[in-house]
Amino acid sequence: MSTISDYREVDGRMTAEEQIVTMDKIVSLAKRRGFVFGSSDIYGGVSGFWDYGPLGVELRRNIKDAWWRANVHNRDDVVGMDSSLIMPPAVWAASGHLENFNDPLVECQSCKRRYRADDLEDTSTCPNCGNRLSEPRQFNTMFKTYVGPVADEAAVAYLRPETAQGTFVNFRNVLSSTPMKLPFGIAQIGKSFRNEITTGNFIFRSREFEQMELEFFVKPGTDDAWFGYWREERMRWWRDDLGIRADNIRLRDHEKSELSHYSTQTSDFEYRYPFGWKELEGLADRTDFDLKAHMAGSGADLTYFDEETQERFVPFVIEPAVGVDRSFLVVMLDAYDEEPTGPKPSDRRTVLRLKPSLAPLKVAVFPLSANKPELVEVARSIYSELRPLLPVAWDQRGNVGKRYRAQDEIGTPWCVTVDYQSLEDGTVTVRDRDSMEQERHPVAGLSDLFRQRLSQS
Ligand code: GAP
Repeated sequence: MSTISDYREVDGRMTAEEQIVTMDKIVSLAKRRGFVFGSSDIYGGVSGFWDYGPLGVELRRNIKDAWWRANVHNRDDVVGMDSSLIMPPAVWAASGHLENFNDPLVECQSCKRRYRADDLEDTSTCPNCGNRLSEPRQFNTMFKTYVGPVADEAAVAYLRPETAQGTFVNFRNVLSSTPMKLPFGIAQIGKSFRNEITTGNFIFRSREFEQMELEFFVKPGTDDAWFGYWREERMRWWRDDLGIRADNIRLRDHEKSELSHYSTQTSDFEYRYPFGWKELEGLADRTDFDLKAHMAGSGADLTYFDEETQERFVPFVIEPAVGVDRSFLVVMLDAYDEEPTGPKPSDRRTVLRLKPSLAPLKVAVFPLSANKPELVEVARSIYSELRPLLPVAWDQRGNVGKRYRAQDEIGTPWCVTVDYQSLEDGTVTVRDRDSMEQERHPVAGLSDLFRQRLSQS
């Protein structure tokens, strides 16, 4: 199989001639097959916003379910919550975002293009026209809005740039309404908004995106050990649960100068994108910064009383935080493959080798020929039997070869074809997406077969 791991790397970038998967191919597949569309594209689009189509919404949901299962349902030390997207300025003043959530903005004096200074190697010359850039100025990337009918200072509010603050301001509520004892976590999946100066690389950096964040509260002094635990656990998740290839993901520890205003140590999980190694997920030791900040800002008591040691203290927080959209991009990139299927150059297929648990559709059912009512009838009854159990597709367009190609391209793990033998002996062919092998199975055992294969994936 030829894959992203075959790239030759030069200065952290992949050489184009060896690249099997490119961003262009992923963007085109995503649009052609209904995974991702540019937002409002019939009006020319708006930079940094994306819409997810019929298959995209399923893949997103499967990624979020995999995260929720691993971090909430399969653990007894984490509970979930869902907080508001809009929060008042007092929250953002206390958390430090009003003061610190800035990116350095430079603007070309001539063509007026704007850049993030930390994205440029030369911060004095415009990469577009070669003229002088302005001195960097701090640009706050939170989206501002107004609550209620009067747009005055008293009505100002902000769209959250991370889910985490919604969790911190609810720490007391969760503690008093659940039996949770330290160490324990609160997980959230939800939208976040950042008015990024530059967006790009498709859904890698956008202005509206979704995050999966876990705030894991621990006793001060145990934070180092828990930081180590989450480094390993999150890497396990990427490899085992999402099926990301080990050589495409790595950990990078932040230099002191890179740390966010709240963090004493951070490790990034980086992925080998076609545009180089870049952040996929951040893991931060946020210490007691946020809870203390909200105690000072609100006057609420956000301390924890340890009944065993009879001590009262402010917990430390370890935070694994990742974007759904960035995970989506990585899952598609990692699964993308092209391979020859015959001697001619046109004998080639594109296949998304998604883990079956992530695939938008699990099974596609076809009659060998759409013109044979007796085949259509049997296929239709198999489709109806499977549909309540798993996401299943029906296709009777064109010939069977074309239908297989179409399902390969969207990552459907198994195709069931009803042929003439089916009418005689009650068996169908089940074709495997990755090996393209076909086996005969009795119609009666199909739902158990797929349920069993899915539970093993
Ligand atoms: N609560 C911590 C926090 O928000 P972050 O490193 O700024 O930390 C966490 O963001 C993750 O959210 C990133 O690793 C990335 O996956 C995702 N993310 C951040 N900004 C993004 C953007 N503009 N577009 C898409 N995903 C983004």
